[in-house]
Amino acid sequence: MAKRLLLTGANGFVAGSIIHAAAGPWEVHAASRGVAPVEREGLVWHSFDPMDMDAFHGVFHDIEPAAVIHTAAIADIDLCEANRELATRVNYTYAHDLAELCWDHDTRFIFLSTDTVFDGERGMYTEKDKPRPINFYADTKVRAEKAIQEFGGNHVIARVALVMGLPVLGEGNSFVSRMASALREGKQVTTPENEVRTPVDVITLGRALTELAGHEYRGIVHLSGNDRLNRYEMMRRIAKRLELPQELIIAQDPSGIPGRAPRPRDVSLDNSKAKEILKTPMAGLEDGLELVLAAAKGRV
Ligand SMILES: NC(=O)c1ccc[n+]([C@@H]2O[C@H](COP(=O)([O-])OP(=O)(O)OC[C@H]3O[C@@H](n4cnc5c(N)ncnc54)[C@H](OP(=O)(O)O)[C@@H]3O)[C@@H](O)[C@H]2O)c1
Repeated sequence: MAKRLLLTGANGFVAGSIIHAAAGPWEVHAASRGVAPVEREGLVWHSFDPMDMDAFHGVFHDIEPAAVIHTAAIADIDLCEANRELATRVNYTYAHDLAELCWDHDTRFIFLSTDTVFDGERGMYTEKDKPRPINFYADTKVRAEKAIQEFGGNHVIARVALVMGLPVLGEGNSFVSRMASALREGKQVTTPENEVRTPVDVITLGRALTELAGHEYRGIVHLSGNDRLNRYEMMRRIAKRLELPQELIIAQDPSGIPGRAPRPRDVSLDNSKAKEILKTPMAGLEDGLELVLAAAKGRV
């Protein structure tokens, strides 16, 4: 019998890739405020307000999952900066309460954190480096990480780098989709040259998180791609592969834009630990893009 996986934020960008990767070995129970984007065997959709912990407890007890992957969050950095109460409720309180529920039932809990927990002054951070958030989004994630670590239990804190790809299911929060639409319409796309990242493709990420759900590893792991590059360079390389006009991509320092929360400069992650513990190979930008395009065939 397939093991049961409870997945939060199920209509999100990363969750779509997990649903895809988990098909077969896992019976996926999706917790979402919305409706299912697809019907398939082995996928059970639970539409409810997951922030209502009584409702969540009910679903959890019905399912008795072997593992929970918690992707739900407000991942928009500027929205978090402007709506701190909401960001705290979704990114910290929800994660805290779920971690407690999992700890109480000895259920494996995989939490999605972010590369931006670091201040970006150095780059190539390892799991041993100390977080120092410089915006509110990252602050909510660091607080959630600390709460999860304090519960102890069977948990993984997966610090995820910038996610590159096209949605496998649903709409998803994909910067590649937004960039491709704009370039196809002949619009310029501006992007910073001074923000360095190690982007991870959404397909590798979905596979790695699914593998972690069934893994024995406990603690922090950095899930990032093999290439370290700035956002401008990254966008140009993606546009080139998609045969879109690279000249419409313009390097621009966005730090003066009103309402834009501070971004760390270089939050490249060292993914040696992921390579050591996981069978899922971590990909570079070009290989990751090929995986993304193969999965999105007919949808690009
Ligand atoms: N994308 C990236 O580049 C990136 C980088 C580093 C870390 N991460 C982390 O990875 C995780 C997944 O990111 P993503 O890009 O897949 O984000 P996403 O597409 O925005 O999906 C997040 C999901 O969270 C749920 N959610 C959003 N607002 C909510 C609210 N107010 N109340 C309850 N649930 C809410 C929604 O699920 P439903 O609509 O199904 O309820 C939403 O689809 C997040 O924890 C994010 O912080 C992402």
